[in-house]
Amino acid sequence: MAAARVVLASGNRGKLRELTELLEPLQLEVVPQSQFGIEPPAETGTTFVANALLKARNAAALTKLAALADDSGLEVDALGGLPGVHSARYAGEHATDEANLAKLLVALAGVEAGRRTARYRCAIVYLRHAEDPAPLIAEASWDGVIITSPRGTGGFGYDPVFVPRGEQQGERLTVAELPSARKNAMSHRGKALAALLTALTTQVRGS
Ligand code: IMP
Repeated sequence: MAAARVVLASGNRGKLRELTELLEPLQLEVVPQSQFGIEPPAETGTTFVANALLKARNAAALTKLAALADDSGLEVDALGGLPGVHSARYAGEHATDEANLAKLLVALAGVEAGRRTARYRCAIVYLRHAEDPAPLIAEASWDGVIITSPRGTGGFGYDPVFVPRGEQQGERLTVAELPSARKNAMSHRGKALAALLTALTTQVRGS
């Protein structure tokens, strides 16, 4: 049986590779939206779920295929949840990861260690078509603290200043110092994806 195609509303190659492997057993072939010449829509939602839905609906409407999209960001308690849905453009519309991270450290200057709690959040959605009235939605978070100076070269975004609340007491590695397989097993995105796959398996096998 030929695999059904699902458009991925993201240009991220890492996400495409990971999703392709995970969705193969469900006979779903993941195709990035760039293959259809689709530009991402403006992320005007105020929540991660709203933005993931915006991206998935846009891709589903333009391709007439089922669509997958995710949206994620960092929520810092001492900043009332900022940068949140603005994480990718915290320091400006086309800001680099370094500029966003530098702005975060300035915003947290003087905040004592015990009040630097934060979490990454991720929402992933799957739409059977653009007007799907019952999208599959999975959300997950990853708790940690923001340290005062960056460490490590792995990961991306805010990873060099995010120390996850480790299972091993006393471990103080930033996400940028963790092997990527370890990050994927624990991260907000990894956990949200696992939850979505469970829901998707039920939907695909049940229909
Ligand atoms: P998006 O999910 O690709 O829209 O990413 C949103 C932004 O949130 C990224 O550009 C990063 O600034 C931040 N972010 C989301 N997930 C992570 C992560 O796993 N590590 C570091 N930064 C992240």
